[in-house]
Amino acid sequence: MKLIIINGPNLNLLGKREPEIYGSDTFNAIFKNLQSKFPNVELSYYQSNIEGALIDKLHEVGFDYDGIILNAAAYTHTSVGIGDAVKAIETPVVEVHISNVHSREEFRHVSYIAANAKGVIFGFGIKGYELAIQSFL
Ligand code: DQA
Repeated sequence: MKLIIINGPNLNLLGKREPEIYGSDTFNAIFKNLQSKFPNVELSYYQSNIEGALIDKLHEVGFDYDGIILNAAAYTHTSVGIGDAVKAIETPVVEVHISNVHSREEFRHVSYIAANAKGVIFGFGIKGYELAIQSFL
């Protein structure tokens, strides 16, 4: 099983960024933990702050991998391009958000990805990434 986690803008700052919302673990630590929890999954990770780079990565992996776990962060709420890319590819996408986006500002209630995602997981903190992996197994 070949899965990739794709994280969008500002998620490179996990551990430092608003820890009361996003927790105090770095993504590096989160990723290592996931690798040890799922030794039989071929798990990779990509992060970018650039919308087009995220689209390029979706195109690159989207006809080959078994699953994509996508936290497009702020682009979730703005990017028709990322939404179209999720629709265009064949690999199923699970949308993840660390925070409960529906208990936050109204602009975070909109997702350009959800309609074409296999499912959406939000509000469970970083555990959401683990739940997303489990959903593919
Ligand atoms: C987020 C929620 C988004 O609204 C926000 O812009 C993020 C992170 C989350 O994981 O909770 O950067 O996707």
